Amino acid sequence: MAIVETLTKELAERLVGDLVRLDQLTLIQSGRDYCDESWAEQHFLMDLPGKWEHSVVALEPESGLLGFAIASRSPHSAVGVYLHRIATDPGIRGGALGRELLQALLDTAVRVDASRVTTSVSTSNAGGIRFFKRAGFRRLNGPEVTEIVHLRGMPSLVVGDCIQETTGHHKYLLGLDLD
Ligand SMILES: CC(C)(COP(=O)(O)OP(=O)(O)OC[C@H]1O[C@@H](n2cnc3c(N)ncnc32)[C@H](O)[C@@H]1OP(=O)(O)O)[C@@H](O)C(=O)NCCC(=O)NCCS
Repeated sequence: MAIVETLTKELAERLVGDLVRLDQLTLIQSGRDYCDESWAEQHFLMDLPGKWEHSVVALEPESGLLGFAIASRSPHSAVGVYLHRIATDPGIRGGALGRELLQALLDTAVRVDASRVTTSVSTSNAGGIRFFKRAGFRRLNGPEVTEIVHLRGMPSLVVGDCIQETTGHHKYLLGLDLD
């Protein structure tokens, strides 16, 4: 039975090897549907506003790390709490741990009165899009995407409702309004 808990900086320092391994495994299995490149230890340990309040991990006494959701908080209400990455161990996908991690993260956003939780997902990641839609997220429209790309200072183009990254990769921005 996995326990979902807040990823404090101290816990991240202890788990960083496992976080990097699960991230790499997810990239190997899901490819660019997941992300363009895996994160090194310094990415997981980098301080960002609200990161150690909003990020969560799932731990199991015997298997260790089974999932993570890494998030931070933007000063802009249009962005709110931004989920950078979420992944669960490939052996237990479909077992509701992703939903549990996401719910724990949403709870932290409600606790700080965030107006919204946002994330980006590859347009080709049909499973990931369905996962977020099942949790109540909606696809943000072109003007909303343009505003967020500008507020986050992303070096990306907006094409219709999509972000086109400098790598040419297309992503949707998804959001869940909390108020
Ligand atoms: C996306 C991910 C975190 C979901 O975790 P999970 O533990 O498999 O998801 P859950 O079992 O909690 O599923 C919750 C709901 O989402 C749906 N869902 C999850 N993955 C799905 C998929 N690949 N295809 C269709 N539906 C999916 C489930 O059917 C379930 O729906 P329900 O409410 O009808 O029961 C996990 O599949 C993963 O790590 N994927 C690779 C990384 C990734 O793509 N991350 C998202 C972008 S950063």
